[in-house]
Amino acid sequence: MNVFVAGGSGTIGKPLVRALVHSGHSVTALTRSLGKLDELRGLGASIAVTDALNREALIASVTAAHPTHVVHQLTALPKDAPRRPSDLRATNRLRVDGTRHLLDAAIHAGARRFIVGSFAMLSPRGPLSGNTDDEAAAAVRSMENQVLEATDRGLIEGVILRYGMFYGLETPSTVAMIEMVRKRRLPVVRGDAGQLPLIHIDDAVSATVRALDKAPAGSIYDIVDDRAVSLTEIVEAIAELTGSARPLRVPAWLPRMIAPYMARMTSIRMPLSNARAKAELAWRPKYSTMREGLAQMLQDAA
Ligand SMILES: NC(=O)c1ccc[n+]([C@@H]2O[C@H](COP(=O)([O-])OP(=O)(O)OC[C@H]3O[C@@H](n4cnc5c(N)ncnc54)[C@H](OP(=O)(O)O)[C@@H]3O)[C@@H](O)[C@H]2O)c1
Repeated sequence: MNVFVAGGSGTIGKPLVRALVHSGHSVTALTRSLGKLDELRGLGASIAVTDALNREALIASVTAAHPTHVVHQLTALPKDAPRRPSDLRATNRLRVDGTRHLLDAAIHAGARRFIVGSFAMLSPRGPLSGNTDDEAAAAVRSMENQVLEATDRGLIEGVILRYGMFYGLETPSTVAMIEMVRKRRLPVVRGDAGQLPLIHIDDAVSATVRALDKAPAGSIYDIVDDRAVSLTEIVEAIAELTGSARPLRVPAWLPRMIAPYMARMTSIRMPLSNARAKAELAWRPKYSTMREGLAQMLQDAA
């Protein structure tokens, strides 16, 4: 395969590029930053330096790469975590306009397949998508619908991967959480009955590689661990596995007041199933749960 990875310098992009090159595929990684050239070349990829919001430039870059497969992993989220709706604006734009440009570019370049990394929590069935005024949920819907419409029209074979929240030692949100738990700055919320879909970054990568040639056109998969967990379970597991002091316990109203976006996380119950991905992609997550993944990664890092 000749794969063009838009978002090739990102959290999932880099290990995905590494895995594709390792499997013998030709890879072009997209970045806006000349400063990332050496790192991406070191992974064995060719590089395209273009802004995905510049339609003509993107079409030229993708066409020059002659891809058979295009992977969309573009976001512009803050490195720790989005705290308010305005933190999602740039990403919303990438999901609406960036998707349109990348699809046009992939079709123009004659690519056969288009794989998009979507976000389970904001997907049409997701808990953060309930409010129809929610721009972030609307942007994810637009991204997914554009891909499905192009597939229906026979222009390209689109596949949607709805990832759970990424975790891993090179995942900025995990690194930030470990740091906060070590400093006892991340409390757990009393009565937290949340069920959050997570996925280890290695397992998100392996599912994406499988989807490139195994997923039927127009299919949608939840790429998640075997069991959803609450934010409290995550924080307590990090504290235990890193030998940190027990996290503080706070009442539910406190995060609602000071970190409303994060507070929503503690009321989300989203026990998604990875059964379809397992059956159709012949994929198995290496880590069945967040606890196993965290334990292994901290042991490897020790
Ligand atoms: N992080 C999570 O927990 C999570 C969970 C579920 C789903 N996802 C999904 O996974 C995908 C990738 O997420 P991620 O966490 O890997 O993102 P990330 O680490 O923030 O990386 C974002 C990538 O997008 C590129 N990018 C941003 N703006 C661009 C622009 N205007 N033009 C060209 N490239 C641009 C960045 O390239 P440069 O900065 O080098 O230009 C970078 O390669 C997204 O679809 C996201 O919804 C993520």
